[in-house]
Amino acid sequence: MAFENILVETIGKVGLITLNRPKAMNALNDALIDEVGAALDDFEANETIGCIVITGSEKAFAAGADIAAMKEWGYVEVYKANYISRNWDRIGRCRKPIIAAVAGFALGGGCELAMMCDFIIAAESAKFGQPEVKLGLLPGAGGTQRLPRAVGKAKAMDMCLTTRLMDAAEAERAGLVSRIVPSDRLLEEALAAAATIAEFSLPVLMAIKESVNRAFESSLAEGILFERRTFHASFALSDAREGMSAFVDKRKPGFKNR
Ligand code: HXC
Repeated sequence: MAFENILVETIGKVGLITLNRPKAMNALNDALIDEVGAALDDFEANETIGCIVITGSEKAFAAGADIAAMKEWGYVEVYKANYISRNWDRIGRCRKPIIAAVAGFALGGGCELAMMCDFIIAAESAKFGQPEVKLGLLPGAGGTQRLPRAVGKAKAMDMCLTTRLMDAAEAERAGLVSRIVPSDRLLEEALAAAATIAEFSLPVLMAIKESVNRAFESSLAEGILFERRTFHASFALSDAREGMSAFVDKRKPGFKNR
């Protein structure tokens, strides 16, 4: 598929998606999100890919959903089209690990897209915000749900109600991002993290994602039970035999994703 709004590359075992609407600060229109979904379908089907990175430009990861497009829609249009659920949710359903590498603005849907990824690596220039209230809208791609889970109620309310932006340092303190890197090293660091992940056993990585995400969907006891059963199941993998044998033999493991 030829993409017009994103760039797609494969770097070793890592799939890289670069949001690419520079004239609109990577505003997220339906065509762009459909393309991200198609690229994820390709990377998930590709046995050699173990991790995915989504990034934007130096100025903007993404400045939100495309306001010019949304301006034309009423309730019936967005309800009938199942706006957001139809295609944005594809990102949250990705079973392979996804890292968001964020520089510049990650606003509205941009912040929400980053939060759909498994973790966020931020450049020093990163700025996160949910300014939808200025448009007479509320966050609609998970902002009111994922943000409080990441940063707590007080900061989430502050950001959504006042539109105050959070810089990279505050985002790291609050737990929204996993680490901050110098802006000129963002992609390098994100690709290095992704390459590290991609060396591990894919079924184990997928099970870790499922288990960590289950923490937000269940009681502690249910979550622990889910983890325990999944942990027990990992003993059925030949990669578990290989990983433990390699440690004992003092050699590098060669995982086969089985
Ligand atoms: C459409 C956008 C856009 C957006 C920027 N642009 N953000 N177009 N949708 N979300 C366009 C501008 O119109 C402009 O186009 C060009 O990108 C450059 O933007 P400027 O505003 O000139 O740049 P700057 O002065 O540097 O300001 C950057 C900015 C500002 C602070 C990021 O653009 C801004 O506030 N953008 C909107 C942020 C926002 O409200 N996001 C939430 C959207 S709602 P021209 O043609 O004039 O050069 C949302 C809904 C979520 O995300 C729920 C569902 C997902």
